[in-house]
Parts: sequence; structure tokens; C-alpha cells
Amino acid sequence: MKAPVIFAACAGVAVLVFAARPAVVDAQGASSELVTQCASCHALTKPANPTVDHLWTRKGPDLWYAGDKFNRDWLASWLQNPTTIRPGGVFWFKHAKAGEPRDTIDAAAVEKHPKVDAATAGRLADALLQLKSGLAPDGVYKPEAANMTMGKLAFSKLRGCVACHQDARGQGGLSGPELYDAGQRLRPDYVIAYTKNPQQFDPHIWMPTATLSEPDLQRLTGYITSLGKENK
Ligand code: HEC
Ligand code: HEC
Repeated sequence: MKAPVIFAACAGVAVLVFAARPAVVDAQGASSELVTQCASCHALTKPANPTVDHLWTRKGPDLWYAGDKFNRDWLASWLQNPTTIRPGGVFWFKHAKAGEPRDTIDAAAVEKHPKVDAATAGRLADALLQLKSGLAPDGVYKPEAANMTMGKLAFSKLRGCVACHQDARGQGGLSGPELYDAGQRLRPDYVIAYTKNPQQFDPHIWMPTATLSEPDLQRLTGYITSLGKENK
């Protein structure tokens, strides 16, 4: 008879979380569907005072800049059929297993994301695209400057991005989100803004701010946002 007890305890926590949040979130305009179904795990408004604690204890990545970040088609289809983006979950070293020559991830311990039907996914995608931060202005990425060969070289050799990100399935580090479908998932103007200064999205995130020249930023963004496009 353990299951009902656990379920009841979870429901109690969920009620507390929802009861504490709506006033703040509604004031910023997140749809009530997002608030009730998603706010228990995702920040829908910018944390007023983003602490290391927020980063360590959050149950899902922040979505308060979702409108800058995602392509709508990807959102609507991923919400119906979620795949793993962060190989180790939202906080990779909670699922890391120490090993030689390097740590591995206990994939079975990473929770599955809740799924929704097509109509709900469409509504949630529209609601998420309303959440804009102003941190990723349009038109900063210039597609005409892209150079895939140089972009790949910068990603995998010169700038070390591959230490934390995969640019092909199974190739690359595990402590950052996979980028092998970034061309479907992410808007180029977000990729360039995030790469330039990750700490403006979260002051404590462990992605380093590399000193990258403007041409470096452009070619990295061109390369990253080309990934995964050929698959669909
Ligand atoms: C139980 C906690 C939980 C709930 C509830 C939840 N999510 Fe998530 N969500 C996560 C985690 C954990 C991830 C990271 C998955 C990964 O990286 O593989 C995630 C990832 C996402 C992503 C991709 C984010 C990114 O940066 O790549 C989106 C979009 C998303 N969730 C939307 C939603 C929406 C919309 C809802 C409400 C219907 C929702 N989530 C409810 C935990 C949750
Ligand atoms: C030390 C590990 C590390 C290195 C090195 C690193 N990143 Fe990251 N990167 C991260 C983490 C952690 C995140 C954010 C994770 C999250 O939102 O949950 C991130 C996020 C990103 C994002 C946003 C993706 C998303 O889904 O929100 C982009 C784009 C990105 N990195 C590009 C780069 C590029 C380009 C380089 C090389 C110049 C690089 N990263 C180097 C760890 C790293």
C-alpha cells in the first residue's frame, strides 16, 4: 500500500506549489494552463534573485525566455513526444556515475517528461512563445556569414564546446544540452545570444563565457543551427 501514500504526498506538494505561484506568474501573463501544468518544474518568470540554489534545486530548465529560444514546430511536436535533451537530466551530476576513464550517466534514473495531446501541445507552444526576455534580439545572426567547416572546427577543436555538448548523437560531452537537433529546436538569434553570454540567462550556469570574436560567434551559430535540419 505504498503507492497511494506517495501519490497523496506528491499531490500535497503540487497544491502548495501552485497555490504559492499564480499571482506572480499571472501578472507577467503566462497562460493559466502553463501555470497549472508546468510551473511546478519550470520557472515561467525571471527569478527576481537567481541564486545558485535555484539552479541546484530546479526540476526543469527555465522557460521564462522560451519565446526567444524555441522554434514553434519543434515545441509543438516535442511536447507530444518528448525526447532526451540533457543526457543527465536537468542537473547532470545528480545522475552521473563515477567511472574510468570518465563518468557516465545513469540514463535509467533520468525521469521521463510528461506528454500532452496535439491540441494541448499547440496551445502550450503558443503560450510559451509569448514568454520573451528581450535578451536575444532579432537579426543579430547573419546567415550570409556562415561557414560550416570553420563552424565545426571551432565547435569541436578550437573553442571546446564539444566538451559539454553533443553535435552528433553519442559524440561529445554530457553536462550540457545536446545540440544535434539544434537546427530544429533553437532560434539562431537565441543561439548567438546564449553563446555570447550564458550568464545573462542564468548568472550561475556552468557554461563558461568564452572570449569569442564576432566572426567566431557567427560561424558557431551557423554550424549549430544547421544541425538536425537534414533529418526532417
Ligand atoms: C516533473 C517536472 C516537469 C513538469 C511538470 C514539466 N516539465 Fe518540462 N522539463 C522537465 C525536465 C526535467 C526537462 C529537461 C529534459 C531534458 O533536457 O531532457 C524539461 C524540458 C522541457 C522543455 C525543453 C526545454 C529546453 O530547454 O530544451 C520544454 C519546452 C518543456 N519542458 C515544457 C514543459 C511544459 C509546457 C510543461 C507543462 C505542460 C512541462 N514542461 C512540464 C521537467 C518538467
Ligand atoms: C563546461 C560546459 C560547457 C561548455 C564548455 C560549453 N557549454 Fe554551452 N551550455 C552548457 C550548459 C550547462 C548549458 C545550459 C544548460 C541548461 O539550460 O540546462 C549550455 C547551453 C548552451 C546553449 C543553449 C542551448 C539550450 O538548449 O538552451 C548553446 C547554444 C550553447 N550552450 C553553445 C555553446 C557553445 C557554442 C560552446 C563553445 C563556445 C559551449 N556552449 C560551451 C555547458 C557548456
